[in-house]
Amino acid sequence: MNAIEIEEAITKLASEPFNGEEFPFAFLMAFGNKDTTIKKLRSGASNKSDIGGVLQTNNVHIKVAEKGQVNSYLRELKQSPATTKAKARFIVATDGVDFEAEDLENGETRACSYEKFPDQFGFFLPLAGISTIAQIRESSFDIRATSRLNRLYVELLKDNPEWGTAEQSYAMNHFMARLIFCFFAESTDIFSRKKLFIETVEQMSERDSSNTHEVIGEIFRAMDTDIDKRLKVKLPRWADAFPYVNGGLFAGDTEAPRFSRISRSYLLHIGGLDWTKINPDIFGSMIQAVADDEERGELGMHYTSVPNILKVLNPLFLDDLREKLEEAADNLRMLLNLRKRIAKIRVFDPACGSGNFLVIAYKQLREIENEINVRRGEEGRATEIPLTNFRGIEIRDFSCEIARLALVIAEYQCDLLYRGQKEALAVFLPLDSQNWITCDNALRLDWLSACPPAGRSVKLIGDDLFSTPLDQAQIDFENEGGETYICGNPPYVGSVLQSSEQKRDIEKIFSKYTKSWKSLDYVAGWFLKAVEYGKHTKTKIAFVSTNSICQGEQVPIIWPIIIKADYEIFFAHLSFKWSNLAANKAGVTVVIVGISNIKDDAKYIYSNKKNEESEIRKVNNINPYLVAAPNVVVETSTNQLSSLPKMLRGNLPNDGGKLLLERDEMIEIIDQDINAKKYLKKFIGAKEFIASNYRYCIWVKDDDAAKASAIPVLKNRFDQVSTIRSKGGSQARGGVGHPYKFVFAPHKDGLAIAIPAITSENREYLPVGVVDESTIVGAKCYVIYDPPIWSLSLIASRMHWVWIGAVCVRLEMRFSYSNTLGWNTFPIPQLTEKNKYDLSKCALDILLAREVHFPATIAELYDPQKMPLDLRAAHERNDEVVERIFIGRLFRNDTERLEKLFELYTKMISKKQHNKNKVDG
Ligand SMILES: C[S@@+](CC[C@H](N)C(=O)[O-])C[C@H]1O[C@@H](n2cnc3c(N)ncnc32)[C@H](O)[C@@H]1O
Repeated sequence: MNAIEIEEAITKLASEPFNGEEFPFAFLMAFGNKDTTIKKLRSGASNKSDIGGVLQTNNVHIKVAEKGQVNSYLRELKQSPATTKAKARFIVATDGVDFEAEDLENGETRACSYEKFPDQFGFFLPLAGISTIAQIRESSFDIRATSRLNRLYVELLKDNPEWGTAEQSYAMNHFMARLIFCFFAESTDIFSRKKLFIETVEQMSERDSSNTHEVIGEIFRAMDTDIDKRLKVKLPRWADAFPYVNGGLFAGDTEAPRFSRISRSYLLHIGGLDWTKINPDIFGSMIQAVADDEERGELGMHYTSVPNILKVLNPLFLDDLREKLEEAADNLRMLLNLRKRIAKIRVFDPACGSGNFLVIAYKQLREIENEINVRRGEEGRATEIPLTNFRGIEIRDFSCEIARLALVIAEYQCDLLYRGQKEALAVFLPLDSQNWITCDNALRLDWLSACPPAGRSVKLIGDDLFSTPLDQAQIDFENEGGETYICGNPPYVGSVLQSSEQKRDIEKIFSKYTKSWKSLDYVAGWFLKAVEYGKHTKTKIAFVSTNSICQGEQVPIIWPIIIKADYEIFFAHLSFKWSNLAANKAGVTVVIVGISNIKDDAKYIYSNKKNEESEIRKVNNINPYLVAAPNVVVETSTNQLSSLPKMLRGNLPNDGGKLLLERDEMIEIIDQDINAKKYLKKFIGAKEFIASNYRYCIWVKDDDAAKASAIPVLKNRFDQVSTIRSKGGSQARGGVGHPYKFVFAPHKDGLAIAIPAITSENREYLPVGVVDESTIVGAKCYVIYDPPIWSLSLIASRMHWVWIGAVCVRLEMRFSYSNTLGWNTFPIPQLTEKNKYDLSKCALDILLAREVHFPATIAELYDPQKMPLDLRAAHERNDEVVERIFIGRLFRNDTERLEKLFELYTKMISKKQHNKNKVDG
């Protein structure tokens, strides 16, 4: 069960009549325990309670108390030896009226009325095994609100199916946004009294719900009507109690959907939450899924955590501002100038979703501004930071609505925090009607229209209290018109998964620069639009992105364009998992790339350490692979850059499975005709390679085709291959005439080195091996025929691992090996005969070390947790020999390895180019 489902289950439990006997089991079921677990507890088989309660080992000890005795029962639970012995994390006592609980791990307690215990849902989440995510507890209000609004949304659509149609969905979303505003406003005194909205609806609408929509419609109409004009529009008295809000939110049609009794009661129920606890950044991301059929199943599970957003915003501009604040210390003039600078900063998120990046940026700037005000003795001063400086583009209308609302709420919360309630309320209404979130396709829209480059100049003034003249050297920003920072987390859609519409977006943007746009991820569009925007104004940009745009085939397509536009990477956050709370989705692996056309000296590479903290390194340059090395892009090559043997793709049957054989099929063929045996060979693909086993295949040379076809069991298969190939693509059809052989068959008799094309990034070395002449290497492997054995040493080296990891394509994190991109480009110094001898010895040592552990598979041998020590030692010796060839010693780490490889690659490529130029004259 996910958090939303748990919230729903416990809310339901608390709303039902209390049944003392059933409560402990119902409670445990609400937290996701399975029927079998409950059965065992019920029967007493797994119930460890020594005081007549229900005790689930490692989890919770629950006891239903006599009326009025809850507290003493909780004490009894705490003192029970069984509680300690079974390592119960929680104790819970209730009599159906009161409810008390304690988290024994940290001593936190909760006491409330029984029906309010679902409010403690965040506290109890460890019961469902959701304890590791600290944030979910902090955001438990947002989860609850999302869950309830979702229930209302779904119910309203049942009552008003027409509101779910494409034409009406905007109205429905707009209605939800208005409701959210009302809930927030009535909890925070923005309305004249607490619960004004929900109580008015409750009192004025019929219990049978027949006129609920009319009551709400009138309330909305009031909020759309300026106080001066109220007499004219004849509002009912009860609606007149609502303030003028508008700001676009209540403009236009104020019609509400019809309510059933159920939806009316859901509505009233939502009003019971304490909306002051809303986190506009988190809530927004959660609630937008409500309006999305596909995402609703994972409701509330997708949100970008604040620390992740700060990984973008801090290096982009916040760190610099904080540094300036530090430098300014108590210098009033410097503080004043910094405040002016901040007021001109525009933050622009062109895929803003519900505005979480903008909200966090706003809150952070307000925090800095407040610190300035405090140091200047101007605490409580009105903010100079306009919300209109926080701009977004978003394609989904509901997300746009939520983004606007989230910013408005964030502004109110900041005013409350830094100025106090009176001031916050005084400036809140009416809402500003300017629209800073544009609802459109960001890849089609001209960004200059959504966020026009700042033109107004900023006048820096000397502080009255200081007589020192304004020192221009201390004016700490260059862009007089105000800075613009573009940021966000645009959608990543790999080239294969893009819709035709998305493909067209990318084509439109890239076709003027490159013919290879088809391989690009959708996110690349945002980078290029941002770069084009930057032609009009100095801009710093930082996007969270799939790491694929900094690896493999996409690098040579996109990065030369960005670099040519005079941008450089000024910070990068190396690959990390962008996790969310979705139960069935592993977090995607992302990077953060900061690019700028303002030449900054300092460049920083951030990488996640084990404890999630970022490690920072100052470097001279960051190349498109996010390596501290010169700006170079590695392109596929048909020839080897270094003196290395040729590597080919393995043999491709394209046979519909008719030339490949499982072991029993192979035996059956021989049983049918022993003459077929000489046409059978072992076959190894990537899977077999890793599992250290084989399949078999039919392998007939052209000269033997007639003889082999005379064997009926083989002929039968050849006929099937012909039929299958005749229906396939051009390569398959080309093989119809010779169905006895693979369509691509570079096989040579003799030894061969094989490397699986896809391999897990968790292995510390690429799993390379040697196969004998009786084995055909399949197309899911690469192969070197008749290889010098020292080449195995190179492929098995850590140097090669890091090179492949950087320049080849990754599937998620897995390595996708490529001969043209990874092997042919691999830069190594010229090898001497002695080097080759040493490397050959290392290669043999690795193979021998594996032999010792026969029949362990490659997967077992290279499991990083279980790698045998002697095999590891053989690899380490190999690395030492390889790395000495590069720099005379072992490298300190992979970063240093990669930097050296790029340095060498750059040199070798420019030498090659130089030689080519000489030849070309
Ligand atoms: C990964 S989400 C990020 C949103 C938000 N920052 C967050 O963390 O939840 C990407 C957003 O881009 C929006 N989007 C997708 N395609 C778009 C397009 N062509 N133009 C504008 N927005 C788009 C999606 O609706 C989604 O809200």
